[in-house]
Amino acid sequence: MAPIDPHSFTDSSHPLTTHVSLSLYLSFPTSTIHASALLTLSSPFSGTLSLDSRSISLSSVLDPQTLHPLPHSLSPNPDPIKGSEISVVLSGQSQILIIYSTSPAASALQWLSPPQTFSKTRPYVYTQCQAIHARSIFPCQDTPACRIRYDVVMNIPASLSAVMSARHVRRRLPLPEEVTKHLLDLSSSLCWCAEDRVVEEFVMEQPIPPYLFAFAVGELGFREVGPRTRVYAESADVEVLDAAEVEFAGAEEMIRQGEKLFGEYDWERFDLLVLPPSFPYGGMENPRMVFLTPTVIKGDASGGQVVAHELAHSWTGNLITNINNEHFWLNEGFTTYAERRIVEVVQGADIATLNMGIGWRGLKDEMERFKDNLECTKLKNNQQGVDPDDVYSQVPYEKGFQFVLRIERQVGRTAFDEFLKKYIATFKFKSIDTDTFLDFLKANIPGIEKEINLELWTEGVGIPEDAYEPVSTIYTKIISLAEEFKQGKMPSEDEVAEWKGQEWELYLENLPKSCEPSQVMALDKRYRLAESKDYEVKVSFLQLAISSKCREYHGEVEKTLKTVGRMKYLRPLFNALAQSGGTEEKQLAKQVFAEARETYHPIAQGVVESILSKYI
Ligand code: BES
Ligand code: ZN
Repeated sequence: MAPIDPHSFTDSSHPLTTHVSLSLYLSFPTSTIHASALLTLSSPFSGTLSLDSRSISLSSVLDPQTLHPLPHSLSPNPDPIKGSEISVVLSGQSQILIIYSTSPAASALQWLSPPQTFSKTRPYVYTQCQAIHARSIFPCQDTPACRIRYDVVMNIPASLSAVMSARHVRRRLPLPEEVTKHLLDLSSSLCWCAEDRVVEEFVMEQPIPPYLFAFAVGELGFREVGPRTRVYAESADVEVLDAAEVEFAGAEEMIRQGEKLFGEYDWERFDLLVLPPSFPYGGMENPRMVFLTPTVIKGDASGGQVVAHELAHSWTGNLITNINNEHFWLNEGFTTYAERRIVEVVQGADIATLNMGIGWRGLKDEMERFKDNLECTKLKNNQQGVDPDDVYSQVPYEKGFQFVLRIERQVGRTAFDEFLKKYIATFKFKSIDTDTFLDFLKANIPGIEKEINLELWTEGVGIPEDAYEPVSTIYTKIISLAEEFKQGKMPSEDEVAEWKGQEWELYLENLPKSCEPSQVMALDKRYRLAESKDYEVKVSFLQLAISSKCREYHGEVEKTLKTVGRMKYLRPLFNALAQSGGTEEKQLAKQVFAEARETYHPIAQGVVESILSKYI
C-alpha cells in the first residue's frame, strides 16, 4: 500500500478509473449539484478502494449491477489539503455508483448570483479543477496519474446553456425515467422534468487527467472565429464578444503553427470561453474549451500570448501530463517553451524575446521570494503536506522554460524540434514523471548528460549558471532605461513612443521594488500607468506605488481588487499591502478582502487568506 501522489488518497495497488458517467442536476438557488457518478475501473477489484472527495455529501454507494449498497466510509476529519477519503469495499466489482451532492463551498465551483454577472439577470457557474479541486465536484481518484474518459448528462435551467471541456452531443428535454435511471436524490421541490429545465449532454472521448474536467453554465453566446474555433462569453456582453472575435481571430493560424512544430492537434476543436472577471487565472487549458480571463482582451493582440500558451498545452500538459504536481514543470516549463515558439512565428522574434525577458525577471524575483524555502526553487520538488495553490509560482514555468531552452541550445533547433515531436508522439495520452523524461532525453540524445548537468537542473536549487538571459535590442534598451530610473531619470516620450503593454511591463518589473514616492508619482503623471487598461501594467505600477508608500493610489488599488479576481493581480497587490509594514496598508488589505471576498473564486479566497494570515 503506497500513495502514488502526495495530493491524493489513490493507492498504487488499486486499479485506476478509466471512465466516469455523471448526471448532474444544477440547483442555482442552493448553489448545489445533486449528482450521481458511475466510476469504471481498469479491472475488477477486491478490497478497500480509496477515492478523493472534498466537502461532498454522500447519499449512497452502490454496486450498479445489483443496486446493492457497497460498504463504505468517509474519513471523519478532512485533511486540510487532500480533503476526505472515501473508502469503498469491493468484492470483484469494476464499477461503483455514487449518489451525492456537492457543497455550496465546493472549492472548484464559483456560483455567481445574477447581480454578479454582466447581464445581471441570470446566474452563472463555472469550474476550476487544477490542481486538486475536481474532487469537490465528483468523487474520483483525483490524480493526474489517472486518465479518464467521461460522459455527462447535465440538467440546467432552460434559460441557460452549458459548455464543457468535451464534445457537445445534444440539448434536449429532460426525460422522466432519467431520475430513477440515475437514482438521483432529488427532493420533491427539485424536479428533473420541470418545464423550465433542459438537459445538455456531453461526451469526452479523449482520456484526460481529472484536473482537466471543466464546465460553465450561464447565459452564453458565441462567435465563430475559425474552422474549429468559437469564442464564447456571456451573450449580453456584446462588447466582450466583439472584442474577443477580433483579439482571437488568429487562433487558427496558431493551431496550424502548433501542428507544424509539435504534431497533429488531437482534440478536434479549440474553442475559447471568456469568463467573468472573477476567473482566478489568466487562462486554463481545459481541452476543447480553453477558459480565459476577460483581462486578456486588451485590443492589441497581446491576449494572443495567453491563447498561445493554453493552445500549447494541447501538446504539453494535455497530451503528455505530469504524473503528479511534483513534476508540474513538465507541464508548464514545456508549455512556456512551446508558447514562445508559437509567438515567435505569429508575432515575431522581438515579442517572443520580450516575453522571455519578462519571464527571466519573474524567475529572479521568485528566487528572492523563496530564499527561505529553497525546495520551491527546484524543478522537481517535494510536495508532501504542501498545498499546490500555496506554492504556485513562476519557477516551474520559467526555470522549466530555461531548462528546455538549454537543451535546445545544446543540440540545435533542428535536432531539438525532431526530438520534441518524437517525445510528444511517444508519450501522448500518458502521465509521466521527470525521470521518464530524462531517460527518454538520454536515450535520444546520447551523451547529453555530459554536456548539461541534468541533475542540477531538475533537482538543484536556484538558477543554474548556464541559464540564458535573453538579448535583443529592445530588451536591453528597456533594462538600461529601468536602471537609469534609479538615478532619477525617466524615459522620454520618444523612447516610449512604440511601447505597448509588454514593454511597460518589462520596464516596471525591472525598477527597484520601492522608489522615491515623488518619482513614482511623476512617472504616473507623465504616462498614466495607474489608469492603464492593461492590467499587467496597471498592477505592476500599483505594486510599486504601494511599496513606495504612495498612498494616493489606495483608491485605485481598492477599485482594482474589487473588479478582478485573477490571482496574478490579487497576489502581488495583497502581498505588497501586507508586507509594506504600514498600518494603513494592512488595514486596507483587510478591509478590501472583507468586502470583495464573496466575489472571488473559492481558490482565490483561500490564496488571499493565506497571504493575509502570514503577514497580518
Ligand atoms: N494551467 C495553468 C493554470 C493553472 C496552473 C491553474 C496551476 C491551476 C493550477 C495555465 O495554463 C496557465 O499557466 N495560465 C497562465 C497563463 C500564462 C502563463 C500565459 C496564467 O493564468 O497566468
Ligand atoms: Zn500553463
